[in-house]
Amino acid sequence: MKATNRDVYEKVTKPLVDSAVNGFNATIFAYGQTSSGKTHTMMGSKTERGVLELVVNEIFEAIESNPDREYLLRVSFIEIYQEQITDLLTGSTRLKVSDTHNEVVIKELSEEMCSTPDSVIDVMKKGEKLRHIACTNMNERSSRSHTIFRIIIESRSRCETGSDEIAIQLSHLNLVDLAGSEKVNQTGATGGRFKEGCAINVSLSALGKVIDQLSKNERHVNFRDTKLTHILRNSLGGNAMTAIICAISPASVDETLSTLRFATGAKTIMNKPVVNEVVNDKAMLKRYEKKIKDLELQLVSRFKELNLLYSISSFHFCFLHYSILLIHFFPFFSFFCFFIFLYPYCAFILSLLHSLKVP
Ligand SMILES: Nc1ncnc2c1ncn2[C@@H]1O[C@H](COP(=O)(O)OP(=O)(O)OP(=O)(O)O)[C@@H](O)[C@H]1O
Ligand SMILES: [Mg+2]
Repeated sequence: MKATNRDVYEKVTKPLVDSAVNGFNATIFAYGQTSSGKTHTMMGSKTERGVLELVVNEIFEAIESNPDREYLLRVSFIEIYQEQITDLLTGSTRLKVSDTHNEVVIKELSEEMCSTPDSVIDVMKKGEKLRHIACTNMNERSSRSHTIFRIIIESRSRCETGSDEIAIQLSHLNLVDLAGSEKVNQTGATGGRFKEGCAINVSLSALGKVIDQLSKNERHVNFRDTKLTHILRNSLGGNAMTAIICAISPASVDETLSTLRFATGAKTIMNKPVVNEVVNDKAMLKRYEKKIKDLELQLVSRFKELNLLYSISSFHFCFLHYSILLIHFFPFFSFFCFFIFLYPYCAFILSLLHSLKVP
């Protein structure tokens, strides 16, 4: 069966795009051996649109169908070439990665604001021109670097416009086109191409190691070993929804098996995505006020329950008192009293335990 890029997009990545528009981080990446079709899938060709373009169209359709929120879209394009980070929109190289407030930040990375699907595609095409591509025996246009095309989606409710209580949803959608693993005897790489191939393989095995550690729930994960794993830290077992498209080709059975092993390990990893909301102080205060009011209401209803139970129990204690007197004077009455008390007291104790449970 022949599957098109649209089939891959519909099946694997569409749900992630909807989540990204609603404030979840999402990452889609293509992994596999050289010449297996990663770039073709992600970036498309002259005859077929790639996942990236389909994602971009979907985002704008989702924005149009949600008139209650206003959106702001920014994009950036990063290349990791031989462990050096380049901004593909400005050409500046050797960018630094840092961990700030538990977030991985690429310093001095430029962002371009986009308001139409075409403007996003134009930015992508502009960046693609700077990407390292070379001809090998396996692929005429082999990617010699990893790229991350990042779409930053910011939105807020239109109802809040004008008020100073603002809750902003901010999500990152990463579209990653990895360089493919390669064997020198197949690519025929020498000199510069050989060096590139070694760097690609080293960084892909570091990615494989991280996936392996995460799938085994190991305590320490080597995210910082490479720039790729460091930048994609959130996408690997963290606060993001991640889809991995694994591309295989008949060129090498070993590489295909290794890709399938990678996919099997990656499938077992559980990410922890949450809606990313930035709330200002006033909005936060309002939320806490509402929470306190809800808790007060719960407390009042619990008190009412307890009051009712108290009245029931007082009634039963009085009844017990008089019954003891009755049993004392009329012993045949004891059998009747046993059933009268057994049921209500069991019910009373159970409901008391239930009402004392913490909400
Ligand atoms: N599904 C497909 N339909 C048509 N052509 C394809 C398909 N997949 C790949 N190709 C073609 O195969 C060649 C290699 O594909 P591509 O460059 O996408 O591989 P790659 O996995 O990105 O390789 P590398 O890791 O070397 O960058 C290209 O000429 C591409 O057009
Ligand atoms: Mg490629």
